[in-house]
Amino acid sequence: MSVHPLIEKFQQAGQGQVFAHFHALPPAEQERLLAEAAEIDLAEIDRLTRTLLNPHATGGDYSQLVPAPYERRPENGGPAADWADAKAVGEAALRAGRVAAFTVAGGQGTRLGYDGPKGTFPVTPLKQKPLFRVFAEKILAAGRRYGRPVHWFIMTSHSNHAATEAFFQAHGHFGLDPARVHFFRQGRMPAVDYSGKIMLEQRGALALSPDGHGGSLRALERSGALDLMAREGIDTVSYFQVDNPLVRAIDPAFIGWHLRRGSEMSSKMVPKAYAAEKVGHFCQQDGRLVVVEYSDLPMAMQEEKDAAGALRYIAGSIAIHVLDREFIRRVARGGEGVALPFHRADKKIPTIDAAGQPVKPARANGVKFEMFVFDALPFARNPVVIETRRADDFSPVKNAEGLDSPQTCRDDQLRQFARWLRANGAAVETDATGLPRAAIEVSPLFGYDEDSFADAWARLQPKPAIADGLYLG
Ligand code: UD1
Repeated sequence: MSVHPLIEKFQQAGQGQVFAHFHALPPAEQERLLAEAAEIDLAEIDRLTRTLLNPHATGGDYSQLVPAPYERRPENGGPAADWADAKAVGEAALRAGRVAAFTVAGGQGTRLGYDGPKGTFPVTPLKQKPLFRVFAEKILAAGRRYGRPVHWFIMTSHSNHAATEAFFQAHGHFGLDPARVHFFRQGRMPAVDYSGKIMLEQRGALALSPDGHGGSLRALERSGALDLMAREGIDTVSYFQVDNPLVRAIDPAFIGWHLRRGSEMSSKMVPKAYAAEKVGHFCQQDGRLVVVEYSDLPMAMQEEKDAAGALRYIAGSIAIHVLDREFIRRVARGGEGVALPFHRADKKIPTIDAAGQPVKPARANGVKFEMFVFDALPFARNPVVIETRRADDFSPVKNAEGLDSPQTCRDDQLRQFARWLRANGAAVETDATGLPRAAIEVSPLFGYDEDSFADAWARLQPKPAIADGLYLG
């Protein structure tokens, strides 16, 4: 009996174990396994296992690393006139319909222990709106404010794509025009064991997982999203993660800084709260902007102070970027030394033993490969990093309890609503941290940032009393 050419290719690459149970599988499962195997770039896997699995691989060379410059906010000494101009430039781009929103929502949300696409997780204090609804309403409101509905691109993974689309369907796309909400799947990579062998999750299925948020650039290109943007006159993409409901999903000042500088990719930073805070760091290496993860930057460097006693590597990455459409295309297509590297993540990977029986490992038993979107920064022309206020842009839901949990996120939303109300003359009782005593909620459709809130509040007659259960919608 002749061997299927794909099986032969895997055997020649030393990956024949993928088909160890092939002949015992029903035809439909054989087909599926062959289809999954056809997705695999064996040369890429070989390269990755030789480099990333190499026990003699050394950590990064950080001897030439310096902190990256960034644009300070006006209240911290930044140029107020430039900030005002940036905002005007961003607003003009929004009025011209040049900007799309883009959410990466392909992650598995394991840390939160929530079953279902993370975007469906309820987050707001009173109405328990899910993350997707918060973003949808911000995008809808920004479209109304600037007179041009905003397209929204959402990257899913194979495992949550259908559930994500169904969720939007079931909720009428939260008032957005379905023709302007675009879903597409990210790519997948196989996991390998510590000897570099591609792992099986079942006898007829590879252990595949999403290729990281860096896979979003390829996926935007492959899915046709970039072409759609070009047809719609969109050249600027506002990127954010699905876990952060505080994000200024559409931020005119940020968009404006990006456009004024002729930047291909721009990012927001917050001053790190403390040395060991688990965020990436904006740095410069050989004159290029890079993000170095907290897990990679030696702790001694994370703790370094400058002459004034402030953290030297202060610029924390909160994973909010603006990207130029054609820059995305260039990175997605690769070539000319432009390629996102893969990173290794050691994981407990459900697999099977030699007899084909399921194994649930207690310790990491293999490696997943992921790309990170911020690795595109070194390839970008004129990248710019701007400072943002944490309280107005960043409170992610990552863990079930403690830091970055539903509770901390809820409190940060309440504090933001209280600040907006107070700034407009309402009497709101709070504790010393700014947390209001009353549970209140502001719909993004009422106000999604301080400007839109101030306008809506000024129009509101009569002004409501600030009391438990107040919902401004
Ligand atoms: C990330 C950043 C970190 C930053 C922090 C801010 C990395 C490696 N680190 O950490 O620098 O300070 O956010 O919150 O990114 N996603 C996909 N597909 C994937 C993997 C992830 O779409 O294959 C999406 C997730 O749905 C989520 C986002 O990417 O929206 C972040 O993923 P996550 O793995 O949670 O990043 P963090 O480790 O929290």
